[in-house]
This record gives sequence, C-alpha cells and structure tokens, in this order.
Amino acid sequence: MAIERIIDSSVHNNDADEQQIEVTLRPKSFNDYIGQDRLKNNLKLAIDAAKKRGEPIDHVLLYGPPGLGKTTMATVIANEMGTNIRVTSGPAIERAGDLASILTNLSDGDVLFIDEIHRLGRTVEEVLYSAMEDFKLDIMIGKGPAARSVRLDLPKFTVIGATTRTGALSAPLRDRFGISHRLEFYKPTEITDIITRASNILGSKIHPGAAELLSTRARLTPRIANRLLKRVRDYADVNGDGIIDVPTTEAALNLLEIDTLGLDPGDRNLINSIIENYGDNPVGLNTIAALTGDEATTIEDFYEPYLLQIGFIERTPRGRRVTPKAYKHVGKKPSESQNQQRLV
Ligand SMILES: Nc1ncnc2c1ncn2[C@@H]1O[C@H](COP(=O)(O)OP(=O)(O)O)[C@@H](O)[C@H]1O
Ligand SMILES: [Mg+2]
Repeated sequence: MAIERIIDSSVHNNDADEQQIEVTLRPKSFNDYIGQDRLKNNLKLAIDAAKKRGEPIDHVLLYGPPGLGKTTMATVIANEMGTNIRVTSGPAIERAGDLASILTNLSDGDVLFIDEIHRLGRTVEEVLYSAMEDFKLDIMIGKGPAARSVRLDLPKFTVIGATTRTGALSAPLRDRFGISHRLEFYKPTEITDIITRASNILGSKIHPGAAELLSTRARLTPRIANRLLKRVRDYADVNGDGIIDVPTTEAALNLLEIDTLGLDPGDRNLINSIIENYGDNPVGLNTIAALTGDEATTIEDFYEPYLLQIGFIERTPRGRRVTPKAYKHVGKKPSESQNQQRLV
C-alpha cells in the first residue's frame, strides 16, 4: 500500500514519531493495561502460581487483529514476572541456526517473544516446538558420514507467540502453548479510558466529551485510538489553543474523512465496490482484493475484522457478503432480487 491509512491498525514502520509514541504509551503492568479482563485474570493466576513454584510460566499464544495489545501484553507479562524479554519475529528467524543461537543465549526464566509467529519456516518451527516441549535442542555437527547429532540442554524459558491468524500455525506448534488466548475488540468505555490515559502521558488537555467522541471512531482498537488522538492533537495545536474539545475533534475527524463508525474512504469504497459489482451475493476474498487493489491478506488481517465486528460483512461458506446494515450506512438499498436471494 502506497498510502498509509490512518485506520490501518498495523504499525507504520517508516514513521519514527509513531514508533516513539507507541513506546511511550505502552502500558508496563497489569494496572496500566486497560480492558481484556478475562486474559488478565488468567495470566495473573498463571503468574502467581509460577512464582510460587519458582518456575517460569507456561508458553503463551496471543492472537487477534493488529493493534489490540499483543506486543504490549508480552512486555507486561515479562515485567510482572520480573524477567528479561527477548523480542524477535517469525520472518526474522530465517534458519534453524538463527533460532539455535537465540535459544542458547537465553537465561532461566527469560521470555522469548516471537511476533508474527505464523510466519516461521517449517524447519524452524519443528526445532522450536521440540525446544518448547522439553527444553532440549538437537543440533547436527559436521557433514556426511562424520556428522553426529548433539543434544544441548536449554534454560527454562517461556515463549510468548503473537499472531493475527492461529489457523496458519501447525497443530504441533499450537499444542505446545499451555495458555492460548484471543484478544477481543475493546469496549468504547475502555477506549475512552485509553485515550484519556494517553493524553495525560502526552501532556495534552482533552475534554471528556472529546475523548468519548474519539472513542467511537477508533474501531475499538487502542493503536488507532492513540493515532487519532495524535492527529487531533496536531489539529488543536495548529488551529486552536491546543485544547482538545468536541468541536476541534469533530473538525479534525472531518478532515480525515473518518465517519461516525470509524470507517474511512477506503472502507466505504470497499463496501460500495462489492455492492455495485456483486450486490449482496457472496464474494471471495481475492475478488474483493481485486476490486480495491489491496492484498487479500491486508483485507483479511486489517480491514475485515472490524467490518465483521460491527456486522457490515458476514462470512458464508461461499464468501463474504455485505449486510443490510452496511447498505444503510452507505445510503443504498438492497435490490428486490437480492432480497429474495437472501431468503433462500
Ligand atoms: N490494554 C491497553 N491499554 C492501553 N493501551 C494499550 C492497550 N493495548 C494496546 N495499547 C496501546 O496500543 C498500542 C498498540 O498495541 P500493541 O501491543 O503494539 O498491539 P499488537 O501487538 O496487538 O498489534 C500500544 O503502543 C499501546 O500504547
Ligand atoms: Mg505487535
């Protein structure tokens, strides 16, 4: 994608300012981490029990759409355990040897955070899951007839894996995680709290009504909430006295063309293109990608989860289908024949 969409919940890697802000705003303990109560309660229990036994906690798999707090939770777990965290990602570990050197450099109790764990190569994955199972590493030394296998003891470490798609993990790898949890979209009130917390940290003044308004536009996603806050703050600095009130927030959101549900022109274009070309018949993901010019994975990981969450798209065995709710939002009516199809 050439143009970075503000509602795109991936990290904008080429935006140094954004990365800096993400680090500043990232909660460090369970107390700062707003929402996801079920996950927090499960983890607190696991951490307390592990501490009592003097052992590291079970391996943890966190999955769900981008921007919901997976990386943040991994750092919170390490902080709460009082251990070091080593951060890497699926695509960064190219060969089994890369993984071996990471594993042999860990200490007892360390957390190894593997982001985008679904992107690990097959052989690396096999080495990883046997290491997770019994904390041993089999490596081959030498070549040809002289080659022999050596078994190394590894420290007792904890893998925290993050992924947007658990379906892409092999079953044996998935089975090695004692704790596996899906992060949910946040409640609007939680997003309001996240925005208020973030503006305090950034030292900007925001009216409660403005925080509430912003929370309805942030796709129930903390990363987008923080990003919108940053944009509205810029707007308030340039066009006013820096105070973020409701009119300033409305004006900034209008400028960004973000509508009442947090959809941007790209989302509306996606819905309109499906309606114009296929009505409310089911369409395949690749067809949608062809309509909008995005990658199918981009649509699946970034845009679709929220559209499913708000009931604008539904999944059927024959593809994705636009709902009457989405029609209404873009000011269109499902045609008679399409209505009939829907009934069969
Ligand atoms: N529960 C939360 N409470 C407050 N802020 C959060 C929370 N979860 C995420 N954030 C904010 O959102 C940003 C993105 O979260 P991150 O953990 O990087 O998401 P993910 O790894 O799932 O893509 C973080 O920098 C943090 O500031
Ligand atoms: Mg992340």
